[in-house]
Amino acid sequence: MYNIIQHTHSGIMWIAVAMLFLSVLLATVILIKKKEECFAKREKIFKFTKWLFYFQAVLGIVLLFISEKVHFGEGFMKSKDLRFYGMEHPLMMLIVIAFLAIGLFKAKKKANSLHAIRTILIFYSIALLIVAMMIPWKAVLA
Ligand code: HEM
Repeated sequence: MYNIIQHTHSGIMWIAVAMLFLSVLLATVILIKKKEECFAKREKIFKFTKWLFYFQAVLGIVLLFISEKVHFGEGFMKSKDLRFYGMEHPLMMLIVIAFLAIGLFKAKKKANSLHAIRTILIFYSIALLIVAMMIPWKAVLA
């Protein structure tokens, strides 16, 4: 069971990161080309990206309970790896999800305009930056 969830979590990571990168790229192109009324057309892509991260969070929360890399016992904060998997990675990824959810929510309020796309660009870019920093690349590429 642990193996299935761990492999799914690290496999979906690639799709989630690719979709987040695509969302940022798409928002940038729309802004450069000043294509008004493009938010509604592309909203499904931004939403799908957000849902991929929600899914990752569900798997990640399960992993917090069953992962062999997570122990909240003595010395938890002193060990770099235990601190990363038990606290830094989950906490920062939750912040990423907040950025995606708030970004999309705020964009929707700005109706179908370039302002909505600009909001997506800002919030999703910050999310992408945090994700790139908080993925355990050593474990992924090992
Ligand atoms: C709140 C959200 C999240 C929580 C609670 C969480 C939790 C965890 C935990 C506990 C592990 C260690 C699992 C193990 O290998 O035994 C882990 C590993 C990992 N997580 Fe997350 N995670 C979250 C979100 C994400 C997101 C959004 C991504 C990427 C898009 C991601 C990518 C990874 C990767 C690549 C690993 C390494 C897996 C491996 O060792 O092969 N996580 N996560």
